[in-house]
Amino acid sequence: MTSTFKRVNGTLLLDNSYPALARAVSIIRRGGLVAFPTETVYGLGASATDSNAVNNIFLAKGRPSDNPLIVHISSINQLTNIARDIPETAFLLAEKFWPGALSIVLTRSEIIPPEVSAGLRTVAVRMPDHKVALDLIRMSGVPIAAPSANRSGRPSPTSYRHVLEDLAGRIDAVIKDDDCSIGVESTVIDLSGPVPVILRPGGVSREELESVLKLNVKVSAPLFREGIPSSPGMKYRHYSPKAPLILVTGDETRRMHFAEKIADCYRRKGQRVGILNTFCESGRPDLNRLRIIASRLYRELRILDQQNVDIIIVQATSSGGIGLAVMNRLRKAAARIIKV
Ligand code: TXA
Ligand code: MG
Repeated sequence: MTSTFKRVNGTLLLDNSYPALARAVSIIRRGGLVAFPTETVYGLGASATDSNAVNNIFLAKGRPSDNPLIVHISSINQLTNIARDIPETAFLLAEKFWPGALSIVLTRSEIIPPEVSAGLRTVAVRMPDHKVALDLIRMSGVPIAAPSANRSGRPSPTSYRHVLEDLAGRIDAVIKDDDCSIGVESTVIDLSGPVPVILRPGGVSREELESVLKLNVKVSAPLFREGIPSSPGMKYRHYSPKAPLILVTGDETRRMHFAEKIADCYRRKGQRVGILNTFCESGRPDLNRLRIIASRLYRELRILDQQNVDIIIVQATSSGGIGLAVMNRLRKAAARIIKV
């Protein structure tokens, strides 16, 4: 194949054509790192069965080694190789939500090296709902371990441009495609214990999970088991923009007035104020609006960073549907949370 592709600081910029995907596949097979689009956020992929390649993911991101990765599959048949003692509920959820924004934590099998799961006895598995991601996994012939393709601590990437901002020169390639449609990461649900627990709210809502499981599902933040947080990623303060973010929660009308007041106060002191628009001033929680807010959240945080604002002010959204994921990310990004 003679196709030539552009490089950015040494990182190959691939498109979603067949020759480009074939190139990505050969990089994965020889233990390299390829960032690829999914419906949630861009992932930074490597062969999940190659512990060297997996270690390189941690190095490229600057990710703490105790924070496990999600293993991505393209076919339900791969699940039984990756996990053991799979409960019936896992198949029920997989059938309903895969491909989709749900990662299921199960008991890890031996073919997945411990590095993937940061030494935990479990593994998180997800089948993404994105043609390029599914083609990449299928053509590579291996499950692909992939965290979000950002530098650790930065907002997750919802565009290939964000991936280049953070990782150009540190990874082998990025596959360029449209912006991610959901815009926040997958929901992580733990099915390895006695009852299902949501470890990270995300693209599949708690309500949707409860309607399939026909029970109330607890959301844990972060739960400690044997001295280790059950979802280690939850203990880090990430999704953080450079400027401190003030999150205003509480009564809807009061928080609007209060947010305006503190913005004015900072402006009078000569500071540049960034308002992260959560569009939720009006009326009842609106699930479609929340989906739009989610899809723009990380992009807007990155834009505010580029504008070099001194302070970011954001009002809480409702916690229905994907609002639970939005509020989880805002709380983790916040330097201060003010309840009015
Ligand atoms: O939507 C997504 O989930 C994206 C795309 C690329 O699939 N991936 C993603 O990966 O967000 P990452 O690494 O940024 O977040 C994975 C989360 C972390 O909070 C991690 O602690 C948790 O999943 N996790 C992974 N494996 C786990 C396990 N075995 N037990 C508990 N939590 C786990
Ligand atoms: Mg991440």
